Amino acid sequence: VGGVRWWHDAVAYEVYVPSFQDSSGDGLGDLRGVTGRLEHLAWLGVDLVWLTPFYPSPMRDHGYDISDYVGVDPRFGTLEDFDGLLRRARELGLRVVLDLVPNHTSSDHEWFRRARSSREDPYRDYYLWRDPAPGGGRPNNWVSHFGGPAWTLDEATGQYWCHLFLPEQPDLNWRNPEVAAEFDRVLRFWLDRGVSGFRIDVAHALVKHPDFPDLPEHPGHLDGPVETTEHERLDHIYDVDQPDVLDVYRRWRGIAEPYDALLVGEVYVLEMDRLVRYVDKQDGLHASFWFAPLHAPWEPRTLRKLLEAVVDSAPGAFGLVQGSHDRSRSVSRFGGGALGRARALALQTLYTGLPGIPFVYQGEELGLEDAEIPPEASEDPIAARGADYANSRDRCRTPMPWAPGSPTWGFSDAERAWLPSGDRAAADTVEAQRDDPGSMLHRYRALIALRREREDLRRGAFSWLPGTGDVLAYRRGELLVAANAGERAAWLPLPPGGWEAVFASDREREGRAVAERVSLEAAEAIVLARSPGEGA
Ligand code: NOJ
Repeated sequence: VGGVRWWHDAVAYEVYVPSFQDSSGDGLGDLRGVTGRLEHLAWLGVDLVWLTPFYPSPMRDHGYDISDYVGVDPRFGTLEDFDGLLRRARELGLRVVLDLVPNHTSSDHEWFRRARSSREDPYRDYYLWRDPAPGGGRPNNWVSHFGGPAWTLDEATGQYWCHLFLPEQPDLNWRNPEVAAEFDRVLRFWLDRGVSGFRIDVAHALVKHPDFPDLPEHPGHLDGPVETTEHERLDHIYDVDQPDVLDVYRRWRGIAEPYDALLVGEVYVLEMDRLVRYVDKQDGLHASFWFAPLHAPWEPRTLRKLLEAVVDSAPGAFGLVQGSHDRSRSVSRFGGGALGRARALALQTLYTGLPGIPFVYQGEELGLEDAEIPPEASEDPIAARGADYANSRDRCRTPMPWAPGSPTWGFSDAERAWLPSGDRAAADTVEAQRDDPGSMLHRYRALIALRREREDLRRGAFSWLPGTGDVLAYRRGELLVAANAGERAAWLPLPPGGWEAVFASDREREGRAVAERVSLEAAEAIVLARSPGEGA
């Protein structure tokens, strides 16, 4: 407990491996591709790189269906390639965090093949099997996140297996100590190879209620008239977020600590009072993502409440994200175009001085918007299962645009990538933005550099500035961070003394002195420091 750990100083970057860089010319990203692009990340200034799954997988869910936890899928490379990636990362001062997927395996995993072979097989109890309901049919009313029931009947053995995702992603039985022992070995395998931690997939879901009761209807759905999926209509009080899941993380903490490795959970719980239980004692997960801002409109009071929650609840224990390979990109969610970009940059500015780990999902540093993917090119099982085409994750998973001049914008030598690139322009590419000092890429880089240079942004005393209306503003040590989350320009009154802009959405403002008050356009952000010579 307590004390500064390396991740408290880090900025993290999510690499969605299938879409970062292809080195083999088959149109799919791979490990050597990532290695070749690590320099971009070092130049950007991040400290930690989270790699999405690259393990052997039939790719029904693009790698989140793993058939061997301690290998590399040949489509992504080899273990030697992985070691090469780690070596290069180390040279560049980058740490690597892997994606651990303990809730489910692929149905191709040897454990599941064995489990399915007979009720007596020793692996049977690695998974969650239930008899049909008394009159026949599914054991309960649980549904999959991807649409359809959470149960599939195995005709041969007459029982249903549980899957919170695809039928090809059978859920493991975390009440079986042998499953836990298997994962101890998986963690150690990668830690011994030199990784710096794990991002834990659906970390709130591993343990289910022992009696598998029916789920009640959700009493009221969020705040507004939103479309409700079959999954959202139920109140998920028995299938996820069970108290004993914390025991798994206590166990892993014991494994991770001697390696000084980070455990960051994808705990998809949007209520802070529930989420905080995963990190407040600091005896299990070191951190969890805070996803609520991904579901919020751009609205000052809402944003303020969500950001206050991370500071008040368990400071330093949250991954601050705007998106991931699972969500519409923030620039699009915030209205798209220049306004969407300004808002995304403003939120990232606010994240930069909050206690926690700011994350960048690949392409956010370019201000990318969602891509349009025609139905016939669609890959996401969510879309394929017809559950929710409008929310297909393909739109945020398109290949990284590196440079103008090729059909895949420098992602691959192939004519076509596994997913279309969408409607990208030269100005979206890394190459073009590196040449443009006013680009989103340079703004992100400046923010990250500032966080590194100014210890106050990471360790300084934190307090919100009171009475600032639509402007969200806080002090962090000798710095002041502010963003206008309203719809029109506003004045921010400043604490007495002279100030200097050390970061601004509009880089022309940097270096300028201000006093008494500062004006901010809608969605404009600024970081101020005491003018030289003006001590506290
Ligand atoms: C969350 C992952 O981020 C997502 O891509 C995946 O489909 C589900 N977990 C299931 O593993």
